Amino acid sequence: MPVIQMVEVFPEQVDELAALAKPIWTDHFTPIIGAEQTAYMIEKFQSAPAMRAQMANEGYHYYFFLYDGQKAGYTGIRRDGDSLFLSKIYVEKSFRRKGIASHGIAFMTDLCRREGLRKIWLTVNKHNDGSIACYRSRGFTVAYPLVTDIGNGFVMDDYVMEKWVAPRTLLYVDTCLRTGSRTRELADAFLNAYRKAHPQDTVDVVRLAEADIHCIRGEELERREALKSEGKIDAPEFAEARRFAAADGIVVAAPMWELSFPAILKAYIETVSVPGITFRYGEGDTGCIGCCKASRLLYLTTRGGIYTGAASGLELGEKEMKALSQFFGIPGFDCLFAEGTDLLPPEEVAGRMEQAKSAAAQMARVW
Ligand SMILES: Cc1cc2nc3c(=O)[nH]c(=O)nc-3n(C[C@H](O)[C@H](O)[C@H](O)COP(=O)(O)O)c2cc1C
Repeated sequence: MPVIQMVEVFPEQVDELAALAKPIWTDHFTPIIGAEQTAYMIEKFQSAPAMRAQMANEGYHYYFFLYDGQKAGYTGIRRDGDSLFLSKIYVEKSFRRKGIASHGIAFMTDLCRREGLRKIWLTVNKHNDGSIACYRSRGFTVAYPLVTDIGNGFVMDDYVMEKWVAPRTLLYVDTCLRTGSRTRELADAFLNAYRKAHPQDTVDVVRLAEADIHCIRGEELERREALKSEGKIDAPEFAEARRFAAADGIVVAAPMWELSFPAILKAYIETVSVPGITFRYGEGDTGCIGCCKASRLLYLTTRGGIYTGAASGLELGEKEMKALSQFFGIPGFDCLFAEGTDLLPPEEVAGRMEQAKSAAAQMARVW
């Protein structure tokens, strides 16, 4: 039985690590991003000085993979809040398909459990199909796309992928107000498949039809403003905001009403928008930066008319939720919908609903 080991790289071994990294990167990335960008990225991220600085200043830990004592590849990780960032994992060509990457991921999963870290995340080039497939087969899912400017006219055009190690809390905001709601049917397709695929997770449900949510005005507005200015963010008035900010993932289901969504959802958004909890002032393009923990928000909706053609500019619900998701610091946004529900013949509506429900169930499995 061959022995796979991970041995931490000491600063004095970084030259050896850089010598191992260079041919692996050149071979792996040249076909995907070209020779020029590959050379630039090796210098910026995987040269000996770059890796020494990462280890000294940025909390990086590098490990050699040893396969029966021979150096077969390497991995680099660092702690990121309550997550583990998997920065690099590469196996030299002749050592692939020998279980080395799986050994590395198992080591990291175990490290997360021991240190109370909740997920492992990484970035992978969108066109790096082999690596994406490899991560998927080891329990990672695509959370959202990410484009990063790395200077010299180059960008990294990536997906962020994540693998949850700890149970998650999914917040479900139910804005389905009608008995026999089609939107709820769609939401149920997602939630049933989600519960089945992730039995360890908690689904926390806020039903807006039953919750104490209303338009904020008058004395209540003044009281909230006073609490905010005194920094009393743990006040009971902000309980819904804390719940929204703490969720690991958020699903909002709402029918199209007056081109967007029912007013109660807007009232809920006003309720959870609290500086110091769901966002804070002083940073970003808008002067605000989102503070919510969730990495993904899914918006589920059904629409009486059709808004994917000439009338696309009139649809405001998906656009508003996408903007709010960004405002709250939730980078991954998806929308699934069925439209024409009040317009098309019943059999076509049924077909579109089935299609949307099947897409929702499929998405739930990889959420
Ligand atoms: C108060 C109200 C407002 C609506 N506004 C619109 C609208 O602006 N555009 C549209 O295409 N459909 C509109 N509809 C139709 C709904 O979007 C459609 O019937 C949807 O499928 C209802 O979802 P539900 O079954 O979950 O309630 C409206 C329906 C209601 C009850």
